[in-house]
Amino acid sequence: MTELPRESREERARLAEAVRGACLEAARRAFEDGGFAGLCAEGRRELALDAIANVALSDLVDPPADDGGLAAYLRADHDRIDALFDAAIADPEQFDHDAFERARAGLLRHIGIEEKILLPYARRRRGGEPLALASVLRREHGAIASLLVPTPDHALVAELREILGPHNQREEQEGGLYPILEALAGDDVDELLARARAAPEVPTAKHFDGPRATRTAREALARSDASARATRTDEPSE
Ligand SMILES: [Fe+2]
Ligand SMILES: [Fe+2]
Repeated sequence: MTELPRESREERARLAEAVRGACLEAARRAFEDGGFAGLCAEGRRELALDAIANVALSDLVDPPADDGGLAAYLRADHDRIDALFDAAIADPEQFDHDAFERARAGLLRHIGIEEKILLPYARRRRGGEPLALASVLRREHGAIASLLVPTPDHALVAELREILGPHNQREEQEGGLYPILEALAGDDVDELLARARAAPEVPTAKHFDGPRATRTAREALARSDASARATRTDEPSE
């Protein structure tokens, strides 16, 4: 067997250790959640195995360069996804589908963290009262998700960014989602960060280009409004 250079071996050892840690954390957390949900031992075991199968490998391969803290982790995740979109459109003659798919998977996972962990947490901490920002963020998440459905090209990335730019700012800026969450969480903030880090990869479907596929920011926002009206509420049950 060929001897690997020391640096590469150290890097691989670090990655292997990170994978082991992420699997252990995912299993432990899922087993605990299963207990809170009243599942039997077999159900909890299934949940734990499922969590290991869905560990977010993208977070380990392209880790966000955060310097600690919940807001820093989420901001760094925005930057990581943004850099992947940059890479997708870097060559005006050729679209980098691999970079786009990594951005897409990362973005769907990121939205999952906000929709399934952070917004429900804020609502619980506020005695059931959702954040004023929640409905606008959910509207934009819906629009972003629908723009991730059709086969991508340079123009589609530009449309996505029309929503993502102001959206990310709404979350990062003073008085935005992330500073509000850090203030609300207080001593719970490390636990909330650990839950965000342990969030699983979201399975991605094949692209779909039928006549109802959405290719502009304006259409995507209109569709998101229509689906919010159809459910008669901006706040799905949390
Ligand atoms: Fe978001
Ligand atoms: Fe975000």
